[in-house]
Amino acid sequence: MSDTTQTILSGFRDRFAAEADGLWFGPGRVNLIGEHTDYNDGFVFPFAINRRAVVALAVRDDRMLRVASSFTDEVVEISLDELSPETVSGWSAYPLGVAWALGEHGADLSAVTGFDAYIDSDVPIGAGLSSSAAIECATAVALNEVWNLGFEKQVLVRVGQLAENRVVGAPTGILDQSASLLGQTDAAVFLDCRSFESEIIPLGFDDAGLELLVIDTKVSHAHATGGYADRRASCEKGAALMGVGSLRDLTVDDLPRATSVLDEETFRRVRHIITENQRVLDTVRVLREDGPSAIGGLLDASHTSMRDDFEISVAELDLAVETARAAGALGARMTGGGFGGSAIALTPHALIPAVQEAVAEAFAAAGYTAPDMFVVRAAAGAARLS
Ligand code: GLA
Repeated sequence: MSDTTQTILSGFRDRFAAEADGLWFGPGRVNLIGEHTDYNDGFVFPFAINRRAVVALAVRDDRMLRVASSFTDEVVEISLDELSPETVSGWSAYPLGVAWALGEHGADLSAVTGFDAYIDSDVPIGAGLSSSAAIECATAVALNEVWNLGFEKQVLVRVGQLAENRVVGAPTGILDQSASLLGQTDAAVFLDCRSFESEIIPLGFDDAGLELLVIDTKVSHAHATGGYADRRASCEKGAALMGVGSLRDLTVDDLPRATSVLDEETFRRVRHIITENQRVLDTVRVLREDGPSAIGGLLDASHTSMRDDFEISVAELDLAVETARAAGALGARMTGGGFGGSAIALTPHALIPAVQEAVAEAFAAAGYTAPDMFVVRAAAGAARLS
């Protein structure tokens, strides 16, 4: 067993004076392309990363749920009989929200016993890498097993989303949980958010001598408040005015009509979604036909669209993207919901130090907080660890 495993098991022991039944993990994710398309029934193309949340868990013989974590001393306790979106809050809303959401998806919570859980994670919080989905998915696979629920991973995706929407209060889609649950080593998940069909597409970064560099700007964001919900509302308004059920039903051929039907701002929001869906399809095709070195232009175009049309970038993300490209990245874009968080830069292996140095210097010159930079690899989705 690795040191980390031992640390987590001893964290569990310290908090609960007992042994865990097992360890389960859920990875964070980066979205290669396809931003804000998930709740518009569109396409996304994320992958699970080699940073993850781990849950050590043991079932109890009563109805109590107790959750603890390495990031706070607090142990949150609640009975299964009192569990609801109104009775949990703070960080514990992620694991406890999942327990509640399993019940909403048909698990008979009157027939199960409670649990003690201890959570650790190396997914940075607030960096746009889905630290919350990582905890949700680790908890979901753990409870699916110890409560003998037998839910498919696709159901667990919806469970995580429901926890996020109703318990945490963020009106997010299925991107993050899909990546965290369905991810595979060296591959990305091409997901149709309307049909829920997904396909695993090999990335081939290694063979092409490429790395994916994450640049965490340290500008923190929260999707339970502010811009994220506004953008979602604009998309719904745009779809209604265009007479379609969701923006997925529109293509670039509809843009001329959209200019006459929509106000200028709503038009730009809609144009981002329409063109971003097309860019996801193009990225998957180009990756298959020409390999990963050829997708840089699509990543760049995605960033421009998010900056100018969807207006979810911030100055730090723009600087990270521009500097990375100028220093040799083949393509770069912000990833995730926006308003802060991380950029990703597809970079030839040999140029990683030069890109990191250039970005660090540019941030210092602009007077911004120093960013955190690290390479991520596409990793396996949530599962039992030991
Ligand atoms: C956040 C949400 C996702 C998705 C992205 C934007 O990560 O949790 O559901 O909407 O933003 O693509």
